[in-house]
Amino acid sequence: MFDLLNKIVNENKKYIKNGHVATYIPALAEVDENQLGVAIVDLRDCNCKEYFAGDYNKSFAIESTSKVIALIMAMMDNSPQYVFRKIGVEPSGFAFNSILNMKINNKPYPSNPFINAGAIIVNSLIMGKNSNEKTNRILEFTRKLTNNPNIHVIEDIYLSEKRTGDINRSLAYYMKGHGLIDNVEDVLDCYFRQCSISVTAIDLARIGAILANKGVSPFTGEMIIPRDICTIVKSIMVTCGLYDESGDFAVHIGIPAKSGVGGGILATVPNKMGIGVFGPSLDAMGNSVAGVKILQQLSNELVLDIF
Ligand code: DON
Repeated sequence: MFDLLNKIVNENKKYIKNGHVATYIPALAEVDENQLGVAIVDLRDCNCKEYFAGDYNKSFAIESTSKVIALIMAMMDNSPQYVFRKIGVEPSGFAFNSILNMKINNKPYPSNPFINAGAIIVNSLIMGKNSNEKTNRILEFTRKLTNNPNIHVIEDIYLSEKRTGDINRSLAYYMKGHGLIDNVEDVLDCYFRQCSISVTAIDLARIGAILANKGVSPFTGEMIIPRDICTIVKSIMVTCGLYDESGDFAVHIGIPAKSGVGGGILATVPNKMGIGVFGPSLDAMGNSVAGVKILQQLSNELVLDIF
């Protein structure tokens, strides 16, 4: 498997030039766009072995991939029924930071939890009396999912997001105007920190492995996420995980996945494996351009398509 992953990373480096790092968050514009790495936590191996290649151990900002973690927490803190009274589960058909899903569809709530408007609502549903307390809970839960005590907020990214996050601010105030959230600044502060958590491809692969294993940690045997919540999250990853590229990704790759503008993709192959990819050069939709290609090749070579 190590040889296969090395080969796949090398063969897909050529796609890096087809994209660019995200620039709308200034601190992300400074990231080296030539990085590319992949990690797998294989459940089919009874020792649950980890395989990796390339820049698998480089830290980067989790960004929208954190929406998976936040959604799990909001559902565990409340219930899935409660959460989905405030957000939908349909693809939006618009960019991740667009307000149009609420305006054009004339729906009083965001289309799904993985666009920014939906993720801001999800963050507001996480228990905790303020941004500090909620951020600490998100960090603790992410450490548990990744088995990595070093999970922390990258201060530069957080400050950069907070300073330039006016589109998110406008989405949040719009939703406040419609009675969907209060405490806009506190919720946004926590949302910006949630997006600025530092992870590696291995961390993402470990989270993917727990989802693939129906919520049970393959390392400790502990049930970390209720099974029904895993099913909901994986379903929404299929329909909405790669924004406007979700349909294409389902057709050509066929694996539940969630991307982030930091260049990460968290993928989960039910009962088989968790996969983490890191490649900060993004396509026009905001997904890792070479990362998507790596997942396509892996899906073909290992026959991972769930359909
Ligand atoms: O709110 C934002 O715009 C970023 N913190 C996260 C966006 C993101 O990762 C969208 N992903 N592809």
